[in-house]
Amino acid sequence: MKALLPTGDADDSVAFGDVERPEPGPGEVLVEVAAFSPNRGETFLLEKPRPTWRPGKDVAGVVVAAAADGSGPAEGARVVAHPPASGWAEYVAVSTDAVAALPDQIPFETAAALPLAGLTALRVLRTAGALAGARVLVTGASGGVGHYLVELAAGAGADVTAVSATPERAARLVELGADAVVHDVADAEGPFDLALEGIGGEELQAALDRVAPRGTLVWFGQASRRPVTLDFFRFFSGPTSATIRRFDYTDSDVPDGDDLATLVRLVAAGRLHPEIGRTGSWTETSKVLRDLRDRGIRGNAVLTVD
Ligand SMILES: NC(=O)c1ccc[n+]([C@@H]2O[C@H](COP(=O)([O-])OP(=O)(O)OC[C@H]3O[C@@H](n4cnc5c(N)ncnc54)[C@H](OP(=O)(O)O)[C@@H]3O)[C@@H](O)[C@H]2O)c1
Repeated sequence: MKALLPTGDADDSVAFGDVERPEPGPGEVLVEVAAFSPNRGETFLLEKPRPTWRPGKDVAGVVVAAAADGSGPAEGARVVAHPPASGWAEYVAVSTDAVAALPDQIPFETAAALPLAGLTALRVLRTAGALAGARVLVTGASGGVGHYLVELAAGAGADVTAVSATPERAARLVELGADAVVHDVADAEGPFDLALEGIGGEELQAALDRVAPRGTLVWFGQASRRPVTLDFFRFFSGPTSATIRRFDYTDSDVPDGDDLATLVRLVAAGRLHPEIGRTGSWTETSKVLRDLRDRGIRGNAVLTVD
């Protein structure tokens, strides 16, 4: 079958190759991939690809072989899935724990944008606790995770301030429920009960400065690649008893498939709107990865396997 393989080249980071069609294990389904979505984290991994690793965590398509142990969806089912890797291919084997059924009304292109970014947003907010009435700051809000954070937090009753570089990149955030949009954290009017930070560099300290006493900053990423700079004395004279919380989306008591089913239910009900800033054929993957790396895509990019 055809698959996208890492090249190690910074600008042309994947190329088509022929690989064996995967043989699913007993608790796995084989999915014929219709669409997939690359993530910023995968652009990092593609810089120094591990031997034998193939990219691809977010896919949607059709089950062409059901799991031998009887678990999961039947052959012919439309699904969205979150394999650990190897999904940028014609077929991928996925554990039935990491698959959710997809109603006919949700296109594969929409569903492919859900897994990593959607699971992360759902779990960040679950970690954060009660949101009704909370003042929430979201940095990197125009990204894949950011759009979902804004809509889910606003839907749960939070007062959301979103940070995004430009009005164009922030265009959808107010429609999705943000109460305020600023283009620099320094302009965000706090204090915030909760700050959700995924940029790094100076942004984390700037967000922390705006946290309320006993508030929480959830640190979930470093999209800028710049290490965070923190000053103890600035923190010490800042919000009393504030907490910085580590976040890893794989640290979840809820299986991926169950949380994917929640995301699908919200999309079907019109309560969650994947923001797909770029669509194209998978022949354009290297270019799309460059644009994603260079901050040129709003929300998620989705590529179709044709
Ligand atoms: N901890 C976990 O389990 C977990 C899970 C998923 C993702 N992550 C991490 O979370 C971060 C966000 O992921 P994502 O998928 O939402 O990424 P994304 O789609 O690329 O969005 C990142 C956003 O950050 C903003 N940004 C500000 N300064 C930037 C800079 N110097 N370089 C690049 N972007 C910058 C950009 O918005 P503007 O241009 O509008 O400002 C961009 O839209 C990444 O670091 C990712 O690796 C962590």
